[in-house]
Amino acid sequence: MAAHQRTPIIERLVVVGLGLIGGSFAKGVRESGLCREVVGIDLDPESRRLAVELGVVDRCEAELAAACQGASVIQLAVPILAMEKLLRELAKLDLGDAVLTDVGSAKGNVVRAARLAFDGVPVRFVPGHPIAGSEQSGVEASNAELFRRHKVILTPLDETDPSALQLVDALWRALGADVEHMAVEHHDEVLAATSHLPHLLAFGLVDSLAKRSENLEIFRYAAGGFRDFTRIAGSDPVMWHDIFLANREAVLRTLDTFRSDLDALRDAVDAGDGHQLLGVFTRARVAREHFGKILARRAYVDAANTSDLIFLAKPGGRLSGRIRVPGDKSISHRSIMLGSLAEGTTEVEGFLEGEDALATLQAFRDMGVVIEGPHHGRVTIHGVGLHGLKAPPGPIYLGNSGTSMRLLAGLLAAQPFDVTLTGDASLSKRPMNRVAKPLREMGALIDTAAEGRPPMTIHGGRRLGGMAYEMPMASAQVKSCLLLAGLYAAGSTTVIEPAPTRDHTERMLRGFGYPVTVDGNKVTVESGHKLTAAHIEVPADISSAAFFLVAGSIAEDSELVLEHVGVNPTRTGVIDILRLMGADITLENQREVGGEPVADLRVRSAKLKGIDIPEDLVPLAIDEFPVLFVAAAIAEGRTVLRGAEELRVKESDRIQVMADGLLALGAKVEPTPDGIIIDGGTLGGGDVHSHGDHRIAMSFSVASLRATAPIRIHDCANVATSFPNFLGLAGQVGIRVAQEGKS
Ligand code: S3P
Repeated sequence: MAAHQRTPIIERLVVVGLGLIGGSFAKGVRESGLCREVVGIDLDPESRRLAVELGVVDRCEAELAAACQGASVIQLAVPILAMEKLLRELAKLDLGDAVLTDVGSAKGNVVRAARLAFDGVPVRFVPGHPIAGSEQSGVEASNAELFRRHKVILTPLDETDPSALQLVDALWRALGADVEHMAVEHHDEVLAATSHLPHLLAFGLVDSLAKRSENLEIFRYAAGGFRDFTRIAGSDPVMWHDIFLANREAVLRTLDTFRSDLDALRDAVDAGDGHQLLGVFTRARVAREHFGKILARRAYVDAANTSDLIFLAKPGGRLSGRIRVPGDKSISHRSIMLGSLAEGTTEVEGFLEGEDALATLQAFRDMGVVIEGPHHGRVTIHGVGLHGLKAPPGPIYLGNSGTSMRLLAGLLAAQPFDVTLTGDASLSKRPMNRVAKPLREMGALIDTAAEGRPPMTIHGGRRLGGMAYEMPMASAQVKSCLLLAGLYAAGSTTVIEPAPTRDHTERMLRGFGYPVTVDGNKVTVESGHKLTAAHIEVPADISSAAFFLVAGSIAEDSELVLEHVGVNPTRTGVIDILRLMGADITLENQREVGGEPVADLRVRSAKLKGIDIPEDLVPLAIDEFPVLFVAAAIAEGRTVLRGAEELRVKESDRIQVMADGLLALGAKVEPTPDGIIIDGGTLGGGDVHSHGDHRIAMSFSVASLRATAPIRIHDCANVATSFPNFLGLAGQVGIRVAQEGKS
């Protein structure tokens, strides 16, 4: 059933070795129509006969020379240890311009064999490895779909002809594979760790238990754990024997690393070191969960065939109810950082289980801190003291979180080890010189990518000196970064703010018993003190509550209560601005919890009017402007924002991205270099883009309350960075927003 839907890009494909992989490749390419003729060759006559009968190939040959005549591409799909002999035979033939490629699961050894056989690797050889398989084997199991959404790794060499690489890449993509290119050595290391070592352990464990006759008995009692762990010991012994011989060096390296880790575990058990065991197990569990999430995300992407998570927000709705939005992001980050550096065990409640705060938590686990949870917002941190962090095993990945990267930069500047901090595409575009520059003035040694972007490498073993630093912008992240560096710097470190910014770091340092002096706009710490474990109750995040403050104001006949919201005066700009616009917001049940003021916020529908936003409120509402722009777009009259150029360097350029979205909905807006002018009116529906910025996605969800038609919001996956259950809570109070296809 050769469905020749495409124009052929090659004349003749020759597949040597008609097993499951070779047969599936042949069949897939044949059905794709990219090739005029597919020729198979196999030592086994029965396989050759079946291959033709089942439509896997157009014809078969028994001799290599005959098969390779006029070949455009030759795919080597024989067992890995047979490659060497096959390559020697091929080297004797005139292959013309044919591109050679293979499917061997260890690449170093195939490349070595090719180099020997051809006296130098042929430029038209493209080593490859499809990561796919099945319990079945043989040509009769050939499946044109076998590689769909599976990874295929190509390992081109310096001398590989780019046009040959492109051709092999195109063939695999035509089979639906997800093709990646990497260096030979990297491929072999990755496969040794993720595939070869687990197989070795599974074979080894089953054999070790089975060969002692008294142990045969224990299989009778073996439970799920044993079954799960040893499933792969049922794999083909000959094939695996080949793979270990072929990928010897890389396997030995991973095995040696694993042996020393296993020895450390053995010692911990021997010494009754529960702390060490708990550390290893919690880190492993988190890593496994993370891996599970990646797989789940891949499943989602597979199903939708796109990475775009779309929110569909339908117009209208009256809001009511009492909700508690998740924990404050800024305070959650700081609780992990200070809890880790404290002496003793810190208990945190109300911790935000969003991706950003979890990135900070994982960073400290990577640096050897034992952290239990989070479980329903509870986290237990076994502090290691100011000098107890250990070098992480590799670069620390901080996802989308600017706060993690900037605060960590300060805290790591005086550690005895080097660390590299990396992030996702959005974080990789954000400016880090604002922290790197003053930290260098204190004596830190920091490398960044071009124009001060991440990744950032912070070199260890530096002695920092305190200084007085006048910040050029009002930034709590820069202030906090320098105060954390100040804990390690000789003498005192003073940060001078051009305008007040959130002061959670100062409050929490005091909560951990560390002295901080505040004198007007100057904050000072001195080194030489210690942090003592504390109990932290994280209030609900006013930045998350802000979406509901605007929602409750603009929806008709609505009344909402937002419980236990942090109302630290350095964060309440959003309430002040909304009240100036005419909003009806009251603070009830005001109290102080763990050094932070907290209140229940009641919001009722109100007629909003446009205002000139006082510039001194800008830093106090810095994260709330996207949703404030929505309020302005339906308010009566003009709203003008100035002095907010910082919005251009948040998770997205929030001035431009909001302006684009509001314009798409028919609003009258004009972005300016440091703000925006919005003439209130009505909003229509349509498609808007959040550019991966969580707060933009949630703001347009709120806009739907007053839109005349549905709003489709693209690229919403990052809502999980700060507000994982946003859709649930929004639905609970009456906002009609859901993931598209799931409403
Ligand atoms: C934060 C400070 C602010 C804010 C960010 C969190 C913090 O950033 O936008 O979401 O936790 O210190 P800047 O310091 O860059 O203004």
